[in-house]
Amino acid sequence: MGRTLRLRSAESMHNQRASVIQDVKRMLEYYQALGFDSMPFSTKALLGAAGRSADGKIADLMHLREEIGICRRCKLSQGRKNIVFGTGNADARIMFIGEAPGKDEDLQGEPFVGEAGMLLTNLIEKMGFKRETVYIANIIKCRPPMNRDPEEDEILSCRTFLDKQIDVIAPEFIITLGRIALMTLTNNNKIKITAARGNFFEYKGVPVMPTFHPAYLLRNPKDKWLTWADVQKVLERMNNSNS
Ligand code: URA
Repeated sequence: MGRTLRLRSAESMHNQRASVIQDVKRMLEYYQALGFDSMPFSTKALLGAAGRSADGKIADLMHLREEIGICRRCKLSQGRKNIVFGTGNADARIMFIGEAPGKDEDLQGEPFVGEAGMLLTNLIEKMGFKRETVYIANIIKCRPPMNRDPEEDEILSCRTFLDKQIDVIAPEFIITLGRIALMTLTNNNKIKITAARGNFFEYKGVPVMPTFHPAYLLRNPKDKWLTWADVQKVLERMNNSNS
């Protein structure tokens, strides 16, 4: 992107934000004039309207992708074919966070497109969403050789970018898939997924529901109902916040 174009798009994002703030200000004055001393609807809905627009979030994610560039920040860059940044709706209500790209994801540059990805897509659809309406990312963005566990330095190199993705998307809920995502977001290497799953915790002010990784569920289909129970808790909270 040329410098002039970048300046223009920054200027248009600034104008867009200013106009949203103006609209919200007018709306607050309107309800005040009607005699309300608090908003007669969920402030979450208001925040949704007042927060960055979907277009602004898309632009922010594009800038973040540019910032990552042809990343050489860790040794995983040596063997990867593609950086797997993340996919989905920049304005998603739910963000799923897995571990790391596998072979299929490395080839296609998109998270969760292999067998485990099909199971995740089924789960998302069973929850009542289309895959493209949620956001899907991983703790690390490059495939570890032979799909080994990501190492601490690799997680650290990628973490800033995942954190920025969370900040931009500002999802209402995060669902972590598997042990590595749980350990990373809790900053606890000893935490057990079997004990933690199904219990909300918070990361950057966002409620997080940890559940099993779809690859684990492919190996242990008898545990699928547990993941189903975990995501039900998210749907319940989501419905409560809508009402
Ligand atoms: N497993 C993950 O954790 N992430 C992917 O993108 C694919 C498989």
